[in-house]
Amino acid sequence: MLVLCIESSCDETAAAVVRDGRELLSNVVASQVDVHARYGGVVPELASRKHVEAISVVVNSALEKAGVGLGQIEGIGVTRGPGLVGALLVGLSTAKALAWGLGVPLAAVHHMEGHILAPMLEQPLEFPFLALAVSGGHSHLYRVDGIGRYRTLGQTLDDAAGEAYDKVAKLLGLGYPGGALIDRLAAQGNPEAIAFPRPMLHRANADFSFSGIKTAVLQYLNKFQQPLEAGHMADVAASFQVAMVEVLTRKTLRAAAAEGLERIVVAGGVACNSGLRSRFATLAAKHGVGVYFPSPALCGDNAAMLGVPADWYLENGRHATNMVNAMSSWPLDMAGVD
Ligand code: KG4
Ligand code: ZN
Repeated sequence: MLVLCIESSCDETAAAVVRDGRELLSNVVASQVDVHARYGGVVPELASRKHVEAISVVVNSALEKAGVGLGQIEGIGVTRGPGLVGALLVGLSTAKALAWGLGVPLAAVHHMEGHILAPMLEQPLEFPFLALAVSGGHSHLYRVDGIGRYRTLGQTLDDAAGEAYDKVAKLLGLGYPGGALIDRLAAQGNPEAIAFPRPMLHRANADFSFSGIKTAVLQYLNKFQQPLEAGHMADVAASFQVAMVEVLTRKTLRAAAAEGLERIVVAGGVACNSGLRSRFATLAAKHGVGVYFPSPALCGDNAAMLGVPADWYLENGRHATNMVNAMSSWPLDMAGVD
């Protein structure tokens, strides 16, 4: 089945063509990051307006790159939520109009379901597995027993991991979004220079909390005149990163052991992080579990990642009606239930 996927939940307008939920024919992402950077975060009203401008260009580009005409599309997959409602409605309305006009079925996909199933576009992966979803809005651990069969095991009680990265980057004057900038800077610093806290590390549950690390960085920075000299700044970045990575890896491995799961997927924008990738690879080998990361192009927001669940929902008759609406918040456990 040839499926056109559309994603517009935050600040990326994205479209992709995926065959049979496996073969990626095109993956086009138009980022609005430059528009929001000057405000230090995503401005919802601006995001919606930019999606309206970009959506048809992005969809046409995805079709062209795939070498596919609109008439050949057999189904549409779209992000229904969670996300910014005004942003989601642009992609959802486009998808509904295309499905109606073409007379093809529509699948309404959960944004995080896309993220955690993305590795399936690149490598064989069997259910069940544990998924760590880490992005600007999520730091969740899920048990995944199949497509549409998800259980939340734990989540952040305050900031998401990406949000903590972005806030610390702001404190260091690095700009927005800051995750990748801290990651790059951390490579030049000493991770043992400053002992930042590891919140929730020793709690038996699968929840996270990252606002304390951010506050510890702020309190540390307040002791010095700003801006710090370059080497000192790199030490702060490296010490912050190692604290984040230790909490994320240790708690994920513990949750996998508690659930008896031997496979771990790490997905979402923060899954691009080099420290997280290498530490997971080391620890997973030691614990005898398989760890699966999407390639960096499929970690951040994109539409290709919707291809796996959309194809399954379409093939299994789980079609969305033309009444389907956007969901600003939507627990993954409810995805596919409709
Ligand atoms: O999944 P995503 O693209 O969008 C959301 O759904 O939120 O994730 C964006 C988040 C941002 O907070 C960004 O700073 C973070 O992912 N991020 C990183 C890295 N690359 C992106 N965080 C840490 N290290 C990175 N290399
Ligand atoms: Zn995302």
